[in-house]
Amino acid sequence: MVEITLAESEFIEDLCSIYHAARLETSCYPDVNQSMSDFIKLVENEVIYIAFDGKIKAGFASVCAPDKFIHHLYVLPKYQGQGIGRKLLEHCLDNHGSPMTLKCDACNLRATQFYKTCGLVVISEGVGDYGVWNEFNLKSLDRNA
Ligand SMILES: CC(C)(COP(=O)(O)OP(=O)(O)OC[C@H]1O[C@@H](n2cnc3c(N)ncnc32)[C@H](O)[C@@H]1OP(=O)(O)O)[C@@H](O)C(=O)NCCC(=O)NCCS
Repeated sequence: MVEITLAESEFIEDLCSIYHAARLETSCYPDVNQSMSDFIKLVENEVIYIAFDGKIKAGFASVCAPDKFIHHLYVLPKYQGQGIGRKLLEHCLDNHGSPMTLKCDACNLRATQFYKTCGLVVISEGVGDYGVWNEFNLKSLDRNA
């Protein structure tokens, strides 16, 4: 049973571990060894939701609330493909309202496919540190899919 709650500040090391493990597994990001202080800056002032599978911290989403922008969504490789990413997106929508947006690097093929499977639509694109990125609009999730 997966439970999603607001992350406590003491979870920061676990969040950083999830972030690194999930990014490493994508083979898309060469800078997987960012420090804890880099990670803390990345999520500064963001609302962070954490997914527990039992006692295991299995994934998290962080949201820039004023912009309704999902900045991070990461699930531990071992827990991927079990519906946790979709649940985290639903939780963000339930708490921040529709529509929300997020960005995903085009080199991250699996995540891009995941967002499309969840029904998100590309609304813009640009070029950043990892090449082309797509901005997705999240209005609702097909909860029966
Ligand atoms: C992308 C990510 C967050 C998805 O989370 P997840 O828990 O693995 O995804 P879910 O199990 O909730 O999958 C939800 C749906 O997407 C589909 N899906 C999941 N992974 C997929 C993949 N690699 N390719 C295609 N579809 C996929 C599932 O089949 C599922 O569809 P369904 O409900 O119709 O069966 C997760 O895989 C991850 O952390 N990846 C590495 C980090 C990353 O790239 N983060 C995003 C940065 S923008």
